[in-house]
Amino acid sequence: MNTRPPIPIVPLEALLPALETHSENGNGLLADRRMRPLHDLRISVTDRCNFRCTYCMPKDKFGREHAFLPRSGLLSFEEITRIARLFIGQGVKKIRLTGGEPLLRKGIEDLIAMLAPLGAELTLTTNGALLAQKAKALAAAGLKRVTVSLDGIEDAVFRRMNDVDFPVERVLAGIDAAAGLAPLKVNCVVRRGINAAQIIPLARRFRGSGHILRFIEFMDVGCSNGWRMDEVIPSREVLAMIAEHFPLEPIDPNYTGEVAERWRYRDGAGEIGVISSVTQAFCHECTRARLSPEGRLFTCLFANRGYDLCTPLRQNADDAALAELIRGIWRLREDRYSELRGAATVRDKIEMSYIGG
Ligand code: GTP
Ligand code: 5AD
Ligand code: SF4
Ligand code: SF4
Repeated sequence: MNTRPPIPIVPLEALLPALETHSENGNGLLADRRMRPLHDLRISVTDRCNFRCTYCMPKDKFGREHAFLPRSGLLSFEEITRIARLFIGQGVKKIRLTGGEPLLRKGIEDLIAMLAPLGAELTLTTNGALLAQKAKALAAAGLKRVTVSLDGIEDAVFRRMNDVDFPVERVLAGIDAAAGLAPLKVNCVVRRGINAAQIIPLARRFRGSGHILRFIEFMDVGCSNGWRMDEVIPSREVLAMIAEHFPLEPIDPNYTGEVAERWRYRDGAGEIGVISSVTQAFCHECTRARLSPEGRLFTCLFANRGYDLCTPLRQNADDAALAELIRGIWRLREDRYSELRGAATVRDKIEMSYIGG
């Protein structure tokens, strides 16, 4: 049975009004309807994953019968590179490869080698399962940084979180192997009653390591994870718990629109971060576009419709036409789901495993 809801594609005609008007801001820079520029492109290279994290790909919804994208439907590396180049031409400075699990995409090192020379900062978010064996090749191909998801440090809890009985030691070995892809970030999604008891042990483990541990509020992405507000632990609470053991002080953001709020240990043992997309939405500064594995463009993590870039690409549209399409889509953008949460009634939202974090 196909459990993936069909994702509507926005017809190109809907874009014509935006293509015809020139709603650029005063500096001639590309901006959306809320005056947000386009800075980041997140590219999901596969909707498959070797984990079944209960908050993302619960087994009952992502079993054998789940209709994953056919391999033949994925954008080729050449197509991804062309789209990335066009986005860089429109102001994108940072590219993040995600999934699903991006290291499952065959030849991912080759894609990295093709993207690295384009000039944007190139990073990747992974569950770390294959990192120990791949870290060297990724760095050699030109990857600059890596973010590893890790929802617990105690083996039994970690195995329960990934739900495929994957041992934590192998991810920790991956983190060690990738230490050169610095600063390495470690992401932990926190759920009340599930892994909150891991917060302090995780903090203790990564203090002084040089890695940046970040706690993410559990979000209502997709339609499969059974999200409930009472399972969200607000970042304030997480920070208070940590500060009881290890005093903290705030640090300035690295740049406007940074997703994580930064803190450091007062004793000099390094930096941590919190990502509060539920309790402190950051849509007003959101500069991220997302490309799906088969070439649809989404302008919000919580979108329920994407814009088809693959068809014009394969119909031999030239660079100028594709660039104009991208500009038109961005100019039409109004998304601010996290600011409207509760009031917003978006149905059939795309899954995190399809579009990436
Ligand atoms: P760097 O800090 O530069 O490495 O990038 P980043 O913070 O964007 O990295 P990452 O991909 O690790 O994002 C961390 C998490 O923040 C994601 O896994 C999501 O859970 C969340 N997140 C990132 N971007 C958005 C966004 O645009 N909207 C929402 N609601 N959540 C986001
Ligand atoms: N809420 C918050 N973060 C999530 N991620 C996946 N699903 C959710 C969710 N429901 C995170 C993963 C990983 C990144 C790709 O997205 O833990 O760090
Ligand atoms: Fe877990 Fe990431 Fe895989 Fe989702 S995509 S199941 S969060 S490892
Ligand atoms: Fe950006 Fe949408 Fe997330 Fe808001 S909810 S920060 S608009 S991706």
